[in-house]
Amino acid sequence: MKTTSLLHVALALAAATSVLSCQEDGLTVEEIDVPAGYSLSAGTSTVFTTSSYAFDSEADWVTGALKRRFVRGDKLYDDARTSSTEYGGGLGPVYAGYSCGSCHRNAGRTKPALWTQTGTDPDGTPVYGSGQYGFSSMLVYVTRKNGAFFQNYGRVLHDQSIFGVEAEGKLECRWHYQTFQFPDGETYELAYPEYTIKEWYANYGNTSEPINPDELFCTVRIPLRHVGMGQMMAIDRNEVEALAAKSNYPEYGISGRCNYITERGIRQLGLSGNKAQHADLTVELGFSSDMGVTNSRYPEEICEGQRQMQEGSMMGLLYDKLEVNTEDMENVDLYLHALGVPARRNVNKKSVKRGEEMFYEAKCHLCHVTTLHTRPRGATLLNGTELPWLGGQTIHPYSDFLLHDMGSEIMGVGLNDNYVSGLARGNEWRTTPLWGVGLQEKVNGHTYFLHDGRARNFTEAIMWHGGEGEASKNLFARMPSADRKALINFLNSL
Ligand code: HEC
Ligand code: HEC
Repeated sequence: MKTTSLLHVALALAAATSVLSCQEDGLTVEEIDVPAGYSLSAGTSTVFTTSSYAFDSEADWVTGALKRRFVRGDKLYDDARTSSTEYGGGLGPVYAGYSCGSCHRNAGRTKPALWTQTGTDPDGTPVYGSGQYGFSSMLVYVTRKNGAFFQNYGRVLHDQSIFGVEAEGKLECRWHYQTFQFPDGETYELAYPEYTIKEWYANYGNTSEPINPDELFCTVRIPLRHVGMGQMMAIDRNEVEALAAKSNYPEYGISGRCNYITERGIRQLGLSGNKAQHADLTVELGFSSDMGVTNSRYPEEICEGQRQMQEGSMMGLLYDKLEVNTEDMENVDLYLHALGVPARRNVNKKSVKRGEEMFYEAKCHLCHVTTLHTRPRGATLLNGTELPWLGGQTIHPYSDFLLHDMGSEIMGVGLNDNYVSGLARGNEWRTTPLWGVGLQEKVNGHTYFLHDGRARNFTEAIMWHGGEGEASKNLFARMPSADRKALINFLNSL
């Protein structure tokens, strides 16, 4: 793990103040200025909707037969699945969400329910994430403390179940709070969630070995916004790899690296997920692992080995037919690829422009890279449908899609979740793309950020940056309060 010395910070400050006159990595002041048309976040896929459908509107090129498939994909994505054997069924027997849209409401980030139930609770009374307390949109990855997976449970805790079946367990959360001060004396608070799993399904699998809850390890994620999914899949891999080779700024303690995933014998660059741990848009995995809907890629029920599934009464719930077909999964894949990316707003407002300057001064752009390109041929869907419209575009994702060590120090934990995903270590995270981030409140009604939603607003999200983000965070912290506000106005314009 990298530690950022005071020297780094001093150097960073010195460099930051000279940013307007120097040239670094060929990035001149002219380029830092907003060029005309910069508000077109994703070229021809840019949409100009600012309502709660801002993430959930198709790009202009989606017409005719493509539009019909888009609409079907949208429906499959949003419609609550049932446990029946009819079309649209197959939910469970255990599951974490009842549709893609249950967690990604309006193609966004469903408000994390646990937070609202416990976060404001000053005495930290434990409240469960589902069951009697309603629905949790979080994904909980579970392993044994030694890192081994549970064979009969899969990697995700299924905290919900259809009638007659027991959920695998429930999430319990305790919040820790601490107040901090900016150098100018203004205060801010950070909150850190500590999760444990309760009501662990007693009869672990069909083995005679029950799991002691003390042996359980879990890490929690809130959903990601579906902004720019097609662009992310069409991205020029060489450009990202070149960025990894170039992403080395010792003066700020920053060096990003790629995640790679080998699945079915093919090694690919990881792009999606909080640790860039997936190479595709996880449609097949989402149906299987999150909803218990079997498909050609994952034909087995996630809980097949559990004893309750082998008891007579459950057999009727497990039927041979795959529960969603490949054509429909490609329609969902198409839906995600074809969503438009909202244009920026208020780009010429004085405080937004000032905030944009501050974004560069604080070196946010070294990870939240503003401009990338898609490869000429665009993207290819699950069954081979080509989407050339996504090709050859200049895009502004505000991410390098690389992994960065985000530290383990703040409040004794930092952003480290001790969970390995592919090459990504516990303290490493993919730079979250910031396009659309300013519309999250409009789309999903909340401003919880970071992988587990611990940040309750932009300021907290920034102040959790440690490790490679430490120097940048400190540059932000040392700004006059008005500049910090301007930077946040800029984030709201994305
Ligand atoms: C139980 C809630 C839940 C359900 C149901 C769910 N997701 Fe997700 N989704 C998440 C969470 C949480 C993440 C972040 C995961 C991570 O970091 O590993 C995520 C991440 C993603 C990503 C990565 C986005 C990015 O920016 O990299 C895609 C794509 C995605 N989901 C698609 C789907 C699809 C398609 C479905 C339905 C088939 C689905 N999800 C169902 C919670 C859910
Ligand atoms: C060293 C690379 C790096 C730098 C520099 C950096 N970030 Fe980040 N940023 C990340 C990573 C990685 C995450 C994801 C962390 C997580 O979810 O735990 C992130 C997350 C965020 C988020 C939360 C997004 C969301 O939707 O949850 C915001 C907002 C953000 N950064 C803003 C900024 C700003 C503003 C700056 C400059 C002051 C900055 N970042 C500097 C890497 C960086």
